[in-house]
Amino acid sequence: MNISVVGTGYVGLVTGVSLSEIGHHVTCLDIDKEKVAKLLRGESPIYEPGIEEMMRQNIENGHLHFTSDYKEACEKVEALYIAVGTPEKEDGTADLRFVEAVVQSVASNIKAPLTVITKSTVPVGTNDKIQALFYEQAEVPVHVVSNPEFLREGSAIHDTFYGDRIIIGADNEEAGDVVALINKAFGIPIFRTDCRSAEMIKYASNAFLATKISYINEISNLCEFTNANVEDVAKGMGMDKRIGANFLNAGIGYGGSCFPKDTSALLRQAENQGMAFPLMNSIITTNAMQQLKLIDKAEARFGSLKDKKVAVLGLAFKPNTDDMRAAPSIPVTERLVLDGATVNVYDPIAMDAAKNVLPKAITYTNTMKECIENAEIIFILTEWKDIVADLLPLIKENGKRVALFDGRNCYGYQELKDVDMEYYSIGRPG
Ligand code: UGA
Repeated sequence: MNISVVGTGYVGLVTGVSLSEIGHHVTCLDIDKEKVAKLLRGESPIYEPGIEEMMRQNIENGHLHFTSDYKEACEKVEALYIAVGTPEKEDGTADLRFVEAVVQSVASNIKAPLTVITKSTVPVGTNDKIQALFYEQAEVPVHVVSNPEFLREGSAIHDTFYGDRIIIGADNEEAGDVVALINKAFGIPIFRTDCRSAEMIKYASNAFLATKISYINEISNLCEFTNANVEDVAKGMGMDKRIGANFLNAGIGYGGSCFPKDTSALLRQAENQGMAFPLMNSIITTNAMQQLKLIDKAEARFGSLKDKKVAVLGLAFKPNTDDMRAAPSIPVTERLVLDGATVNVYDPIAMDAAKNVLPKAITYTNTMKECIENAEIIFILTEWKDIVADLLPLIKENGKRVALFDGRNCYGYQELKDVDMEYYSIGRPG
């Protein structure tokens, strides 16, 4: 099928590349010409394992193309994906400016009937609005289908090919059939519903996962008071199939481009309907508090952090990505600077991205060794494999006694046995 994908951010690029891999002819459009030039050279603007090889292969075999020209993207197109950003506005609602701009450009360039598929996460009812805009602006029939994505950054290609379900929300049966046909080759179970329910499935799923995380984090705090071990508690809970073992890792809270934005947007959608949603409020508040958990612990141990030398390891919101959006490292470094600590930071991949969002008064170090050299306190914020593997030998080699505050429970007590340091983690007996 001839397919166009508008937006080559995370979702758009992974969608376009994956669709080309299963044999479709895909044109990805982005208004950023520099980005398109880079993509045409087979260079991925995002850090995602496996994507560049797949991109290059499909560019070479003619299945994948990139452009900035709407005319080109709309020519001969049978289905068009909208995958532009829906950032959070200051009031917590989703900003639909980019989606509306796409609708306008597509409507003025299409010549034949078209199925439009919304991948962007949009508030319930948005696809109805998109449908109405096309109805007003396009000269040919357009049917809008909601097809939310459930990809995790860092394993997006894997999740596309081995996901649990594909959700197709269509009010027009035939348009839904088109999307089912496009996705057939993935061989993943398809669940079909109406547009509004599909939109809600996306928010409700992300908010549920965020709920699991905030819940286990609250339990971890209680474990600390009661000397229980949250890891065993989570394991024991997770063996109940009704609960499930995933997303029960206690830590310093969730970050990223999805959970914080989607939980706020869901809350605003409820409030806009005049409905209170106290549970969602608590999940968000718990997460904000949890992100500063290591600061609380360090203050409880040292009193003030003023003039303390602190090394912060791991800045991205999770491993295997350079994404700094809503990363716990932002409030943590802000607080450390505010408290007058001397802060060194290190991340294997996200250093450049971090420079745009972290406070100015911190030192970026080139290696983990350099980062911890003079540290009295070390914070682990992201469980990068290399950080976890190399830190204990480095602390030993350095020979300076430190207090390690581990925000991701990276070590078992056995591994810590012969390292001379203080160790604090999340929800485990000291
Ligand atoms: C999340 C969802 O998992 C995807 O299904 C969804 O498609 C995506 O949002 C989206 O809406 O685009 P992602 O944000 O990439 O994916 O990251 P996750 O791997 O889900 O992790 C999110 C955050 O939760 C991270 O900060 C992670 O450290 C934290 N987390 C995760 C925990 O603190 N504990 C856990 O047990 C699991």
